[in-house]
Amino acid sequence: MRSFVLLAAALPLAQSIRIIQSNDDGWAEANLRTFFDVLNSAGHQVVLSGPAENQSGTGSNDAAPKQVDADGCIHASCPGKSPPTGANATDPRLNYVNSFPVTSIKTGIDVTAPKLWNGAKPELALTGPNVGGNVAVQVPFSGTVGAATYAAKTAQIPAIAFSGQTGNPTAWNAPTPLHSKVYADLALNITTTIINSGKPYLPANTYLNVNFPAVTETKCNKPSEFKYIFTRINTGVLSSRDANWCGSTRLPWEADVILLRGSSCYVTISPGDANDKSTVNDAAVQTQIINKLKPLLSCLP
Ligand SMILES: *[C@@H]1O[C@H](CO)[C@@H](O)[C@H](O)[C@H]1NC(C)=O
Ligand SMILES: *[C@@H]1O[C@H](CO)[C@@H](O)[C@H](O)[C@H]1NC(C)=O
Ligand SMILES: *[C@@H]1O[C@H](CO)[C@@H](O)[C@H](O)[C@H]1NC(C)=O
Repeated sequence: MRSFVLLAAALPLAQSIRIIQSNDDGWAEANLRTFFDVLNSAGHQVVLSGPAENQSGTGSNDAAPKQVDADGCIHASCPGKSPPTGANATDPRLNYVNSFPVTSIKTGIDVTAPKLWNGAKPELALTGPNVGGNVAVQVPFSGTVGAATYAAKTAQIPAIAFSGQTGNPTAWNAPTPLHSKVYADLALNITTTIINSGKPYLPANTYLNVNFPAVTETKCNKPSEFKYIFTRINTGVLSSRDANWCGSTRLPWEADVILLRGSSCYVTISPGDANDKSTVNDAAVQTQIINKLKPLLSCLP
């Protein structure tokens, strides 16, 4: 028994699990594809199901997929008039859905992934990294968050929404930008920590809203430079006290940490309520999530 525990603790990689990925910038976006590659390199089984077009800012909209218009999918990643859903011709794990982010992840969870996994469903849903931050008041409008909350609430699959401050829309087949690589590594670090914390990966009906700060050629460009801070989506002035963490019972506000102190290379991780996308206010649930993320978390100085 004891030797088994020691062996498990010495394993460098998280166990391989089934992951569904989506976003709102489109299935062919470099941030999303770079994260797909990194998750595969880490040994996971990954199915990507993202919108055919840019669906930024479409929140939790959901509608039956339609034939792709005459211009084709984003970044010329599928021809004009392609069918409502489709896969990469040589890699069936890469899929587009010509509709909203919620519709894309739903199709991936219910149809595409089980077909590739002998009927099994995903164990974890990861959205983004979004091109641009999703902080505080931006959260309710974000399709990246909309897809994550659909997974957590309706499909009951633990979900994490990732967003990065730096970058412009970039095609999957363009040279991979530095920020896409850095964000993929940071997202993998959080994903691995959650997987290693054991099932259930997150409390029911919760998701994590993760924001990465700006990445530049000279600053915040190596994963080891970053610190991970547990934060709130909204300030919580009128809310009950938060979990007792870092010497306080009020978590910092993600906007303060990511926007005002971004040059300190802080990543914010906020516990989200999948019912309304706001902060989880229950201190006991916050504490469960803190305990899962403890190997990663730091306190603000
Ligand atoms: C489809 O997959 C192949 C092989 O991985 C890759 O070379 C190609 O760029 C992909 N195209 C799209 C649109 O995903
Ligand atoms: C999507 O559209 C939003 C504005 O609606 C824009 O800010 C963003 O850069 C676009 N993303 C892509 C991938 O084109
Ligand atoms: C994950 O982040 C922690 C805390 O910053 C760091 O010590 C560790 O090296 C990172 N791991 C990877 C694989 O990036």
